[in-house]
Amino acid sequence: MNKSARLAVFGASQLVTLRGPARPRVGGELADLSIIRGGGLICRGGKIEFVGTSDQVLARVTPGDEVVDATSGVVLPGFVDAHTHPIFGGDRLDDFSLRSSGATYQEIAAAGGGIRSTVAKTRAASEESLVKAGERHARLFLENGTTTIEAKSGYGLDKETELRMLRAIRRLGEITPIGFVPTYLGAHAFPPEHEADPDGYVDQVEAMLPRVANERLAVACDVFVEEDYFDAGQARRLLGRAQELGLATRMHVDQFGDSGGARLAAELRVRTADHLEHTGIGGINALADAGVIPVLLPASVYCLGLSKYPLAREMVERGLPLVVATDFNPGSAPTLSMPFVLSLCATQMRLKPEEALTAATFNAACALGIQRDKGSLEAGKSADFTIWDCQDWREIPYHVGSLRPSTVYVGGVAWAS
Ligand code: NIG
Ligand code: FE
Repeated sequence: MNKSARLAVFGASQLVTLRGPARPRVGGELADLSIIRGGGLICRGGKIEFVGTSDQVLARVTPGDEVVDATSGVVLPGFVDAHTHPIFGGDRLDDFSLRSSGATYQEIAAAGGGIRSTVAKTRAASEESLVKAGERHARLFLENGTTTIEAKSGYGLDKETELRMLRAIRRLGEITPIGFVPTYLGAHAFPPEHEADPDGYVDQVEAMLPRVANERLAVACDVFVEEDYFDAGQARRLLGRAQELGLATRMHVDQFGDSGGARLAAELRVRTADHLEHTGIGGINALADAGVIPVLLPASVYCLGLSKYPLAREMVERGLPLVVATDFNPGSAPTLSMPFVLSLCATQMRLKPEEALTAATFNAACALGIQRDKGSLEAGKSADFTIWDCQDWREIPYHVGSLRPSTVYVGGVAWAS
């Protein structure tokens, strides 16, 4: 259908709206999905015009409208995946095989695998081949019901390749239906040529920030803080500069150990602190007091064969506006499936399915600063929604990655693979 025509969807056994205040949802709000039973919606020009019951929708249908019967299905907002690394050269299948024999993430990196092996392959890849690989990932995101993703650079670790990655992300936003929100992650690891001069590399990352901000190549800056990666002083410097330039700031923290990353994120008042597997109660309190959004990535714990998941329940109880995301990347989380992440939330982190869904849609949009347009089904917002062949939306996490949407609408247009 063309974007200017009107589209009416009716008959959904559940239409999950997530309607509510345009700010991150906390506490009991996380479990309030505002479901309309026997619901529908009308869209025009890429936006939602009306949301209500099927009767109300059908009463508003006019000749020429396209009408979709969603009877025996549920309608959800498209997932917003707020943390992904979707652009890279090659794969990490050898890491995967090594891990199956018990090698750790750190051992694999020390043996020449890990982030640096992807950096070598990404440096060798043309922009065109990065875009091609990214198109395949975009298709897989859509097939799993995700309509917006945050996309990080961070596998170039030199000026030229980081810029190539950011241009590839911009191009993918133009040629695929997915919404891309780009993040500059020059501080993902130290490249081999800067092994002996880590601060020289931090200088280089800092020098790129004005260009990244001025040319809108990214809207956020991220730093990976962990032993053997970036330390507190380096993060302070880079994120302070990014904030001066008007970029949103984010950090990967406490993934493999509690290095005080959550407290640092609170001190720097970054927008999001991501991972948090090893963050204790003190760190959770610091995040809450500073208003930092936690982004949990349980698929990376699962895919690395680890067992320490973040303290999600405690975070909800402390009033944090929880977000969950895939962390899609070739190493620690090669999954693009938000349904799988929702399952992990329920089975490994004691989150209610409703809390997890809010964390994967509306709160995720808040983490990206796009909550006025994405993350819920309300009049005036983008018509990004999915139809699933089930009677109760909880079947999606319950069947552990088995269900996929039957139709995916982005900007009111049905996506066909
Ligand atoms: O979020 N922790 C750092 N970065 C990624 C892993 C990247 C990789 O292994 O290639 C993550 O888990
Ligand atoms: Fe990550």
